[in-house]
Amino acid sequence: MKLTIFTDEPALPEVRLIAGEARRRGIEAKILAPWDVSLPPTRELESDVYYIGSNILNRVSPLELLHRLQILRVFDEMGVVVNPVEGILNYSKGHLTLKLRSLGLPHPETLITENVEMAYRFAAHLLDSGRNVVLKPLCRGRGVGVVMLDRIRSRRDLLQFLTWYNRVHGQGVFYLQEYIPNRGYDIRCFVIDGEVIGREKRSNPGDFRYNVSLGARAEAFQESIYDELAMEVAGAVGLKIAGIDILPGLDGRAYVLEANCYPGFTALIKATGTPIHERIVDYLRSLRR
Ligand SMILES: Nc1ncnc2c1ncn2[C@@H]1O[C@H](COP(=O)(O)OP(=O)(O)OP(=O)(O)O)[C@@H](O)[C@H]1O
Ligand SMILES: [Mg+2]
Repeated sequence: MKLTIFTDEPALPEVRLIAGEARRRGIEAKILAPWDVSLPPTRELESDVYYIGSNILNRVSPLELLHRLQILRVFDEMGVVVNPVEGILNYSKGHLTLKLRSLGLPHPETLITENVEMAYRFAAHLLDSGRNVVLKPLCRGRGVGVVMLDRIRSRRDLLQFLTWYNRVHGQGVFYLQEYIPNRGYDIRCFVIDGEVIGREKRSNPGDFRYNVSLGARAEAFQESIYDELAMEVAGAVGLKIAGIDILPGLDGRAYVLEANCYPGFTALIKATGTPIHERIVDYLRSLRR
């Protein structure tokens, strides 16, 4: 079997773990970066399975994005792509919000817009009703650019802030969300092919963002109470390998915050002892056409 790990971060520990595990099992595993590829494809690009190991679409120029999407479509003709191309293409917080809404699953009140006046009105409405507001980039990850508005400002100040935010983090699109008062932790469920294979509880007394990359502590979470929700969400957004983040609110509801298309798992391995990379290779091997 041939496995290609397609990534613009070849040095990611997750990439190395999966490649190493695959090779240990006699799978021919190759790490390929977008800049190693030329189209039309040659036989050298042929593989049974293509694992997309990092966010190759959302941190590049629009033309690079189109080119990389073309590469994914070529891979899709030649073998099986994981995550599925449609899932990768749809991956954004905005898509998740609309999916959760159509399924009636709990999600904080959210607005997605390019319009600064609409963003202002939404933020002002939440702040006026005593709630805080979280602003996030549509597609970034690791808590980068996730900020909280927690005090009422004058219209001028708030508009000024939103304009600054848009320039520095938003890249033209506002994703605004009501802040959910919570129990001080969130739960990451790691889903592979419709099953939860690991869970961690993340907390950070020093930050409202419970991202491990920002210093949050991760520990194993033994209960399966959120598994069904996580599996439903992963299926709804078309992801075979996904990290589903669930925030238990003080109101007793479990809010879905994120369906991550490229979930890291080194902290999860450390917290649970579950060899996630081995489970991923099990799954990739099962896909051979
Ligand atoms: N609406 C919210 N209410 C309360 N806390 C929130 C809210 N949104 C985000 N947070 C906190 O901020 C953290 C980061 O937010 P989020 O997971 O949405 O973005 P991200 O981690 O940057 O993206 P990704 O999960 O794709 O890596 C969450 O783990 C959570 O702790
Ligand atoms: Mg997150």
